[in-house]
Amino acid sequence: MDWNATLYSQRHAFVWRGGEDLIELLGPQPGERILDVGCGLGQLTAELAKSGARVTGLDSSASMLEGARAAHPEIEFIQADIAEFESTEPFDAIFSNAALHWVHPPAKAAERMAQALKPGGRLVAELGGTGNVGTLIGAASELLAQRGHAARNPWFFPGVGEYSQMLEAAGLEVTFALLFDRPTPLEGGEEGIGGWLEMFAQPLLQAEPEWRACVLPQLKERLRPKLFDKENGRWMADYRRLRIAARKPL
Ligand code: BEZ
Repeated sequence: MDWNATLYSQRHAFVWRGGEDLIELLGPQPGERILDVGCGLGQLTAELAKSGARVTGLDSSASMLEGARAAHPEIEFIQADIAEFESTEPFDAIFSNAALHWVHPPAKAAERMAQALKPGGRLVAELGGTGNVGTLIGAASELLAQRGHAARNPWFFPGVGEYSQMLEAAGLEVTFALLFDRPTPLEGGEEGIGGWLEMFAQPLLQAEPEWRACVLPQLKERLRPKLFDKENGRWMADYRRLRIAARKPL
């Protein structure tokens, strides 16, 4: 996926803000080596680094990394796909917010993360969980199907059991897992839903270049009763998160 880093930073700060308290769950310690998987523009990488840990941000997007390096020149960032990542020096901890649902195959990513941890090392991650943006994506997929585009969900939104098993199969012990709803206000008022689709749903919409004219008006009509917050004049995305912590046995 080709990320528009400028748009991402201007309109979608909720993505990294939603992960701020995930740092508490990790409890980074001074001197620890931490890998931030899917670091994007590096906002949470920089937050992690405030603990005194030595943090490396990893992302597959060159445009995101360009922004991350410009904003945080003191931090090391590397371009890699976590499903292919080979670390030479293992990490004390791995952190990941809103990234692992993009990675394929997810079992390979779990394997590579387990390999990259020291014995006793921790993984703390949050990703879209089962049913994530189900109302939004479900309606968009239906409308695309009506126009002859067999839309497939390109994301991995697992449940507690599925992802726990995957991490266990990779050799980690799951110590915490929680699936919860996080209805998320979108910026941009009436235009918020189009902005969200443009930023995040490219893989779904690329089959219909005219989606703004052909799909968006009907989509809004369908979703307005469920996802429009009239009082505040904004769209709400039906986010559902899976928060999970695991440890590599000693
Ligand atoms: C999410 O962060 O939950 C998400 C990202 C892209 C598409 C759908 C959901």
